[in-house]
This record gives sequence, C-alpha cells and structure tokens, in this order.
Amino acid sequence: MTDSDLIAAARQAAENSYSPYSRFAVGAALRFADGTVVTGTNIENASYGLALCAETVAVAKAMADGVRGGLEAVAVTGPGVEPITPCGRCRQVLNELAQLGGTNPVVLCTGENEVRRIRLSELLPHAFGPASLS
Ligand code: THU
Repeated sequence: MTDSDLIAAARQAAENSYSPYSRFAVGAALRFADGTVVTGTNIENASYGLALCAETVAVAKAMADGVRGGLEAVAVTGPGVEPITPCGRCRQVLNELAQLGGTNPVVLCTGENEVRRIRLSELLPHAFGPASLS
C-alpha cells in the first residue's frame, strides 16, 4: 500500500467520524510491516472531554487484535486546508506501539493539498515509553 493509499484509507475512515460537537472529522490509518492497515476515526461524547481521537482509536483497534509492533507509517487526515498533526496524547499513544516494536514511524500529516511527512520521534522527542520503565 502506497502513502497515497494510506491517506485514502484515513479519509475513508473519517466518513464514520462521530463528531457532532466539534464537526471536525479526523481519520487515521496505521500501516504495519506485514502490510496490514488499521484505521480509526474520532468518536466524541456528550460529555465533551471524553472524546476519543482518530489515532487513539486506531491504535486501540490494532492492539486489541494483538498487534504489538511493526508500525511503519501513520496517515492522519482532517477537514481543514492545513495539514493536521496528532494531538499530544495521540503522540504518546502512538509512541507506545512504535516503541514496543522498535520502529520510528513516519506520520503523514495531511491537509487539503499538502502532506507533511514527520517522524514520530520529531513529533515527540525524548519520549517516555515502555523502554523507560526497564
Ligand atoms: N482529534 C483527533 O481525532 N485527532 C487529533 O490528533 C486532534 C483532534 C479530534 C478530537 C475531536 O473529536 C476533534 O478532533 C476536535 O478536536
């Protein structure tokens, strides 16, 4: 799957966004070393602060199916013109899965006409992760 395909998968996932409060539909797609792709979208709640971000949902889906590594690329899409970057909490959540498998995934921060390719280690330098506890 190419980067463009991964972005398309994230955009497709955003079609299922449950974001009646923010009206800000986000999509995420994770690509693993074996070619598997897992997607997620943001799921909001009437109790606003309980919103789940697209990236976090995707990581939870993957880990609930037993995935523990191999994360190579992440596509994130939003409704805006500007490329969207993962929020701080999502960076930490992505880092958990990445560090478990010893990878430093490229994050495709996607806007309407622009894709910014940023390594997770650049988005979250000096990360605290599973390795920090050993
Ligand atoms: N959101 C995400 O899904 N991912 C991010 O990285 C940033 C924010 C969602 C949360 C909320 O549902 C909406 O976007 C507006 O903040």
